[in-house]
Amino acid sequence: MLQDRCHRNRNVSTELLLGEPVATDVREAASDRIHELGARGIVPTLGTVLMSDDEADARFMDLKHDACDDVGIETRDVRLEPSAPPTRLYRQVENLCADPEVDAVFVQAPLPVHVSLSAVRRRLDPEKDVDCFHLENLGRLVGGEPRFVPATPAAVCRLLSSYDVSIAGADVVIVGRSGIIGKPLANLLLQDRTPGNATVTVCHSQTTDLASVTRRADVVVTASGVPELVDGSMLTSGVVVVDVSANRAPETGESGDGSSNRDGSESADVVGDVEFESAREKASAITPVPGGVGPVTLAMLVENVVRATERRATSE
Ligand code: GUN
Repeated sequence: MLQDRCHRNRNVSTELLLGEPVATDVREAASDRIHELGARGIVPTLGTVLMSDDEADARFMDLKHDACDDVGIETRDVRLEPSAPPTRLYRQVENLCADPEVDAVFVQAPLPVHVSLSAVRRRLDPEKDVDCFHLENLGRLVGGEPRFVPATPAAVCRLLSSYDVSIAGADVVIVGRSGIIGKPLANLLLQDRTPGNATVTVCHSQTTDLASVTRRADVVVTASGVPELVDGSMLTSGVVVVDVSANRAPETGESGDGSSNRDGSESADVVGDVEFESAREKASAITPVPGGVGPVTLAMLVENVVRATERRATSE
């Protein structure tokens, strides 16, 4: 399939990899499982922690809660000022993990610089840590025995398989090495599974000649948080482009934060890491921002909460 895409006639229009139809399928399957849990008197519950005063962060956290509400998942919403003492964050994470009603815990990145990621990781219960912050969960994922697959990398994989983009044997370049997206995604796409078996290269802020690497790629996945870092001149004809980030548009404010997965929002004031129009000229398939990876990420978070709930229900 990838070969077909790569050699596709340039006159054939570029396929838009829209997230909403994929998200709908994921949500419907999750809803069925939530009903089954409900019949047993179990209501899945997600606890989230946001330590930021950024409006966009708050809006994206709201979207996660809305996505849960829509399918009957209960939520606990902890929000802390970024200047709060780190111990307050650690205590909140501990409290959510100790709460028997809470099945899954999600801590929004990036965390303020004075917070120790290691301290947060240690306090997370691996059985509730749906975004794989805990090193046990990260290790299981790298080892090919994931307890959970974090929502954003899972969304990229689901989008690729839903649109029949086969990456086996393909050169996949990931732009961005964050612990929550780039690194887990690279490991997933390497594994002997579907989608997987790709030759994966991970680029980052110190990559010397980014364009020379992205030009070799059959598939480019961007998760750098740098608005419009990649344009059409950096891509080969027929490439498949998956843009994970949704950064604030440069003319309306600051750039992204290096780890954003924020295009669940339908707001028009976001841009991806890819300059869409010039990239579309080259691509056989491309995700829009917003409307590509973002909706699928929200749905995969829902799926992960259901998974965590089912795991806890069977271990009781
Ligand atoms: N911040 C931006 N994207 C993500 C994500 O996928 N997971 C977490 N935990 N934080 C984020």
